[in-house]
Amino acid sequence: MNPPRSVRITGWGAYAPPNVLTNDDLAQVVETSDEWIRTRTGIRERRVAGPHESTATMAAVAGRRAIAVSGVDPADVDLIIVATLTPDHLTPATAVLVKEAVGTPRAAAFDLGAACSGFVYAYATAHAYVSGGLARHALVIGSEVLTRFLDWTDRNTCVLFGDGAGAVLLSASDEEGGGLAGLELTADPEGAWRLWIPAGGARRPSTPEVLADAQQYLRMDGRETYRYATRTIASTALTAIEKAGWTPEEVDLFVPHQANVRIIESVAKSLGIPMERIHLDLDRYGNTSAASVPIALAEAVGEGRVQPGSKIVFVAFGAGFTSGAAAVTWTADPALGSRADAVSSEPSIHAPADWDAGDPVPGPLAAILARTKQEVPA
Ligand code: ACO
Repeated sequence: MNPPRSVRITGWGAYAPPNVLTNDDLAQVVETSDEWIRTRTGIRERRVAGPHESTATMAAVAGRRAIAVSGVDPADVDLIIVATLTPDHLTPATAVLVKEAVGTPRAAAFDLGAACSGFVYAYATAHAYVSGGLARHALVIGSEVLTRFLDWTDRNTCVLFGDGAGAVLLSASDEEGGGLAGLELTADPEGAWRLWIPAGGARRPSTPEVLADAQQYLRMDGRETYRYATRTIASTALTAIEKAGWTPEEVDLFVPHQANVRIIESVAKSLGIPMERIHLDLDRYGNTSAASVPIALAEAVGEGRVQPGSKIVFVAFGAGFTSGAAAVTWTADPALGSRADAVSSEPSIHAPADWDAGDPVPGPLAAILARTKQEVPA
């Protein structure tokens, strides 16, 4: 394949599970309040994957929506990358399960782990494949079921996260211009133990002792993570903007990782940009890690906040500590987003006939959901 003139986003899509968990619901299981969560984080509610849903099922819906928007034949997709820290299984890769559900017979498929920065890392990886002529169409997905990796007795973490998926299709174009203009990716192992899941991997496999000590769940030093995030998001975004030859004032829309509105406000202040130029949805979804940027992007495009020629910046920060920012010139017609409406929200991921996932929703969470059941259309 010959390298293309440009690499452009031709499709976008998102999926959020219908179960809604509010701050008041959480106050029934841990010592917290709607007021504390809202004022410290900006989060009001988050979505929770149901028993029949997983990282792969949600990724497949978002991926199918992105392909439908692009109008590309799924048979022409060469690559699927799923960014996630909550894969369905340690192996096979979630991307392989997504490939079957999406129906892309030729695609290579692999997962990418860079926590909340995963989508930007995966975008950069897919861009390299397409710009180098190794793929013409690459599906980039961020998908997470964080609610199954949280300790529902730990108020420091369980109030922050939610489930969901978002995707873009990157395509080779014969037209000049548009697409990625500047990129910055960082990784700082100093932060490795500030935000981590101690057990369930090769260093500490799951045992009854591990489970009794809740070491299979996410642990976070919130204050240190907060301090590092505010500094790094601003510097990473600025570097990507400068590499693009832009200034922060010229950027039409920032699409940041949605972890905490106070972090985003502090970044806006240090970059000298008004909050109106930042897309926010964390009040409704919480922190969906690798899914947060593509969910916010799909929403921003749907709301008409992006037009051909718009300068946008994706920026994320996450465990590792990792960070990533991409300065991108938008090229697609936002009206094409309505093509996603026809995509069913129920793909099936098949499993071995002699294996049953049971009910994967953690007991304390299932109990709250049963009491407070609130759903919005998927
Ligand atoms: N409800 C009520 N009180 C709480 C809660 C809660 N849910 N959680 C913590 N508290 C308490 C703490 O125990 C502490 O009490 P103490 O002073 O008696 O010890 C007090 O509130 C204040 O705690 P702080 O940590 O100082 O609160 P802060 O204002 O920093 O907010 C927060 C905490 C929201 C976690 C913040 O530190 C934060 O957002 N950190 C960054 C998190 C983040 O971005 N993580 C994701 C990175 S992305 C990824 O890769 C997954």
